[in-house]
Amino acid sequence: MSPVFFALLVSAFSLLCLYLYLKHNYSKRNGIPTVKGCVPLVGHMLPVILKRMNFSEFIRLVHEEHKDRSMVAIYKGTRPVLIVRDPNLVKIVLQSNFSNFHENGRKVPLGVDPLLSKHPLFTYGETWSTGRKRLTYAFSNVRLKTLFAAVSEVCKKFEDFLNGRLKTSNKYEVDMKMLFPRFTGEILANGCLGIEGNCFKDEAGASAFHSLAGIIFAKSLGTINTFHYPDINRLLKFRFLPKSMDTFFRKVVRENLKIRRNDSTLGNDFFRLIIDLEETGDETDEERVMAHVVSLYLDGTETSSITLNFISHDLAANPEIQEKLRKEVRSTIEKHDGLTFEALKDMTYMNQVISESQRLRSAVGYLSKICTEEFELQGSDGLTYRIKPGMEVDISIFGLHTDPNWVNPNAFDPERFNERKQTIEKMTFLPFNVGLRRCVGMRMALFQNKTCLATLLSNYKLELSPRTQLPLKVSPYSILSESIGRNWVYISEL
Ligand code: HEM
Repeated sequence: MSPVFFALLVSAFSLLCLYLYLKHNYSKRNGIPTVKGCVPLVGHMLPVILKRMNFSEFIRLVHEEHKDRSMVAIYKGTRPVLIVRDPNLVKIVLQSNFSNFHENGRKVPLGVDPLLSKHPLFTYGETWSTGRKRLTYAFSNVRLKTLFAAVSEVCKKFEDFLNGRLKTSNKYEVDMKMLFPRFTGEILANGCLGIEGNCFKDEAGASAFHSLAGIIFAKSLGTINTFHYPDINRLLKFRFLPKSMDTFFRKVVRENLKIRRNDSTLGNDFFRLIIDLEETGDETDEERVMAHVVSLYLDGTETSSITLNFISHDLAANPEIQEKLRKEVRSTIEKHDGLTFEALKDMTYMNQVISESQRLRSAVGYLSKICTEEFELQGSDGLTYRIKPGMEVDISIFGLHTDPNWVNPNAFDPERFNERKQTIEKMTFLPFNVGLRRCVGMRMALFQNKTCLATLLSNYKLELSPRTQLPLKVSPYSILSESIGRNWVYISEL
């Protein structure tokens, strides 16, 4: 090796070291405590990249290990990220100073995922507020009431499916993780799009709607970059929505639009609503209709099936709570002369059970926002930091939900959400986020999950199978909080 080349190499290496030193010391220079274990270039993301844990689990550990801190920093690569722990700071970021933090941390590069470019989760400003307004209208009480008839039909299919399985044996052992995507997939296909989802037909194979579940949120390079390294995605243009799904939804929408155009009286469902919303003159903007359909799938089906999976686990593991809920479901159905939309509203203990299960294991484990306008954050521990535009701020939903401020935080106790819920510290229960970016589909999610659980509990008993490995752990392979092990439960008729 020539001396000149050697000298150049040493200089380049020294410059790289200096660059990394300066980058990885940003938080220290600004007086923010930094999590131990920062690896040059990779930052703190090694356990996530190596799939030892998912990011929600990772920042839950950070949240737990820094009990006395209001905020703490980590590095995603060389980029510093502020983790806000103090509920007062959480309120500032999510609610009271929303305009300073109105962008989300996850990003899809323009042009790479066209069906996601208008989606509220990936947009801000005018595009976000227009998209959000349309969805808010779509999930109004009146619209949900209209959807109820279709959801009831899906419940009948669900019961037929279970009864079919119980014909040959008095107990049906099933991995609930695989059962609920059938329900939520059929709701999307049948209830929202007015087409057959084939989710309760095994012979439909890969053509069934629920077989798509898990593809999007599985940790591909595209999803990791969308959530954690948007700069790499901007450069290398990885997709978030897999090509196969893009093609699938385009085909579904095109075929459905063709049928509807030939018969304008068909369907008083979400698809009709979407067509009406996107009609300009005699033309329907196909691309935007497709984007809405993808949005419904992306936001609603997996989050809801994960939530149902955990609730069913909690009910099977706590037979007394299951029995109490069953009593409420049966008496309310009797009072309303059937499982009606109004009956669902009356099931208050059901709300408590759902909230408590979401507290212990929420489908979305963390929130990620971007500072858009300089702001001084003052923590209750005396720490002050003037955050600059462009910096990412993350909040651990898992961490806040099991903070020692909760009495006996790891116990499953739906009574916390009875009248005592007034005493719950603000900003420590965020399964649907709060403020202007709170989940726009919350009512739809609760309504479909309550219908599913009421159907299940009024006719069947759930028991934990010894094959289920306890405790259920969060999968390191998914961005959402999917469980890694199988959630085997025995279902039997009452
Ligand atoms: C139990 C099921 C669900 C859970 C746990 C859930 C949770 C959440 C959370 C935590 C957020 C905030 C994300 C953030 O700020 O980074 C969110 C946003 C959102 N959710 Fe849900 N969600 C559920 C079901 C649904 C359903 C059924 C839909 C619609 C079909 C939906 C549509 C949306 C949309 C469009 C946003 C973005 C809102 C915005 O940024 O303005 N979600 N959801």
